[in-house]
Amino acid sequence: MSDINQMPREDGIDHSLSLMREGYMYILNRRLSFSSDIFETRLLGKKAICMGGKAATEVFYDTEKFKRKDAAPNRVVQTLFGKKGVQALDGQDHKHRKEMFMSIMSPKGIQSLTDITKEQWKTALNKWEQVDEIILYEEVKEVLCRTACQWAGVPLEENDVKEMTTDLAAMFESPAAVGPNHWIGRNARRKVENWIGDLVEKVRNGEINPPESTALNRFAWHRDLEGNLLDTNTAAVEVINILRPIVAIAIFINFSALALHHFPEEREKLESHDEKYAQMFVQEVRRFYPFFPLVTALVKKDFTWNGYKFEEGTLTLLDLYGTNHDPEIWENPDLFSPDRFSKWEGSPFDFIPQGGGDYFMGHRCAGEWVTIQIMKVSLEYLVNQMEYEVPNQDLSYSIVSMPSIPHSKVVLKNVKQKL
Ligand code: HEM
Repeated sequence: MSDINQMPREDGIDHSLSLMREGYMYILNRRLSFSSDIFETRLLGKKAICMGGKAATEVFYDTEKFKRKDAAPNRVVQTLFGKKGVQALDGQDHKHRKEMFMSIMSPKGIQSLTDITKEQWKTALNKWEQVDEIILYEEVKEVLCRTACQWAGVPLEENDVKEMTTDLAAMFESPAAVGPNHWIGRNARRKVENWIGDLVEKVRNGEINPPESTALNRFAWHRDLEGNLLDTNTAAVEVINILRPIVAIAIFINFSALALHHFPEEREKLESHDEKYAQMFVQEVRRFYPFFPLVTALVKKDFTWNGYKFEEGTLTLLDLYGTNHDPEIWENPDLFSPDRFSKWEGSPFDFIPQGGGDYFMGHRCAGEWVTIQIMKVSLEYLVNQMEYEVPNQDLSYSIVSMPSIPHSKVVLKNVKQKL
């Protein structure tokens, strides 16, 4: 008798269409119907393993077992990631590049980001008071584009703000899009890479001199393990790996506003300025609402786990959304309940909206602290610094299209500063 088990397998030639059709629920639907946290399928014409849950997450983030080089689909590389960035590195090269990212995430760095974010919200709020209504998603993207550029040391002329916001957003709005919208994302990436690349050159030849602590300065002067500067395009890709995702936090902020609207009792609790509750609310927004559906890796070398054989080179998908909604981990996972985080033990493998495992050794999101902090500042504005009405609109959101954004993008009327 062999001790190798056959993984539950989805029959058929290819299931990429089902993945597109079922979106965030694709893996979880099958984990539930197979009664298994792991199954085999075929995606993008290849055999693929899908898995989710706490134990699967722990294996997925074992860098002895999985690698990232060539693991991401080309359409994601061309829009969201860019080429030769940290996402596709492994081993020592990854660790060294990741240290470069984490070096700007110091308490001082996060404090300076907090100050900039508050200032930008204040300026925007003054502007919103002058108009009848705003589309929160569009406005917050602009607030965050200004914030991101200022924090990263990237000079941004007032005339360029709208275009830069649109281009950075196109990179995360387009990876799963088909047709023209996808190409808008690719063109935006090409344009911004050239623009940031020019700035990297200017830092290197002394034409501009952003503060030492900024991403533009540090990444322009970063040396790889051989002692070489990054090539200009790679340095630009990495600066964009700071700018683009900061703008993407607009999605979580939109969902925060939605939660405040759908669950008015939460707003009351937050009005007390209870810092601990604000943290739990933000965590619950990141758990509850859809954002990144999954992450991909390739099996590094053959291994067996729980009796299942993983063959070198097999594409493997980790279910982020489904793990955050896993009934084995979360009681009533489809209930919005910030209180659940008062009991959460802080495992790096069960709450994974931005990936799991270790920041330095693995691929867990470098910007998780930044995300939480910007969400907290923004929440304080939405709850305690401003008043507004929420007119009738389509606030529903898709559990299929990626990334999911409330359909109306959250329209607010009569925005005023709270006195
Ligand atoms: C907007 C909310 C965000 C979400 C939902 C998010 C989600 C993620 C996810 C799922 C990953 C991949 C984890 C993996 O491959 O295992 C990731 C990686 C990454 N994120 Fe974020 N992220 C967000 C914000 C940010 C911010 C604000 C920054 C920077 C300021 C950032 C920088 C990065 C970087 C550099 C990586 C690559 C890390 C690596 O490969 O080692 N992200 N993020």
